Amino acid sequence: MSGLMAEELSIVVPVLNEAKNLSILVDRLSETLNKERIDWEVVFVDDDSQDGSRAALIDLANQNSRVRFITRIGRQGLSSAAIEGMLSSSARHLAVMDGDLQHDETLLPKMLVELQSDEVEVVVGSRFAKGASLGEFSSTREKISNLGNWLARLTIKTELKDPLNGFFMIKREAFEPTLYDLSGTGFKILVDILASSPRPLKVKELGFNFGKRIHGESKIDSLVAVEFLTLLAEKWLGFLVPVRFLFFTAVGGLGVFIHLAILSLLFKTLGWQFYSAQATATLLTMAINFSLNNVLTYRDRRLSGFGFIKGLLSFYLVCSVGALANFQFAEFLFSEGIHWILAGLAGAIVGAVWNYAMTSTFTWAKKKKQKI
Ligand code: GDD
Ligand code: MN
Repeated sequence: MSGLMAEELSIVVPVLNEAKNLSILVDRLSETLNKERIDWEVVFVDDDSQDGSRAALIDLANQNSRVRFITRIGRQGLSSAAIEGMLSSSARHLAVMDGDLQHDETLLPKMLVELQSDEVEVVVGSRFAKGASLGEFSSTREKISNLGNWLARLTIKTELKDPLNGFFMIKREAFEPTLYDLSGTGFKILVDILASSPRPLKVKELGFNFGKRIHGESKIDSLVAVEFLTLLAEKWLGFLVPVRFLFFTAVGGLGVFIHLAILSLLFKTLGWQFYSAQATATLLTMAINFSLNNVLTYRDRRLSGFGFIKGLLSFYLVCSVGALANFQFAEFLFSEGIHWILAGLAGAIVGAVWNYAMTSTFTWAKKKKQKI
């Protein structure tokens, strides 16, 4: 083992419900890296998987001192998991790879060799470089991936064919200066690091074949694109305004139109009284806004199941005062002869400001300490 010397290589592996893949990966790493006499360790970062991963990790770590792990409770996210794993390591080289056996571990020794050169600071396993294949990627996913690649290249200061891949190795000296600027949002840890580096990093790509997943399932869903755009927005605008606020404003802005659409349907088309049309439009818009914010703005604190119902109720509760102010105000303006659109709009704005202040504090409150 490492003795007094810093380890040569830490391999950080974020895992979420990968219990069946853990010991296979450790075996494969041992096979490849021991043969090359590399001084290595693997650091699994598990976000409280409910498939027995923690017990499996305890066993693995007890059997093999090259295995370490971190369990995070009440938090999720591939990027932030990778960052915390890297932070826990003192090795001279840091690799990040998936824990589902889709990344080819036999590339690791070759990556390490590349990092011995002064000309290379980051080696990226690329699905597009020479000798690479995309495996089971569908053509739609490939198109989305191409668009993402293009957007990422605008941000990262570095020419790369496959910046979206989650398989790479970096020198510690190159990683350290990025620490305070990392965003940790979403899936794209490499983009985050490259964009956070104070200077362009010297990158080399090595092709590999993207394997098939055998056990478990992919955690990437359609909203991964939203997280990716959030990451880019944070890199572009983060120093000006918090991106969460931008999302909330966008949802709120959309809410104004939804509100007016419902209002005009009820008031103009269906001939309801203005007061009840405005009240109904307010309540419906609140529910729609709640759902949108839950999925977009507060994706990382997303409420689901019973939490969703509780959240919706608290949303209604804390906003009921705002809603009251909203339609009282609108009704007052309308009765003063103000045009219905203006009256409705003014009421909705009063409600929206109230919503933001109250719900960011109460409805999507940051998770407090876990019950022990
Ligand atoms: N700790 C933690 N927390 N791990 C996570 C989380 C999370 O919230 N979400 C996913 N993971 C782990 C998975 O368990 C797996 O080990 C790895 O991150 C990749 O997740 P997959 O769900 O298998 O993603 P994918 O195969 O669809 O996408 C991968 O390949 C893409 C193309 O190379 C990822 O590496 C992407 O980042 C990459 O762009
Ligand atoms: Mn995968």
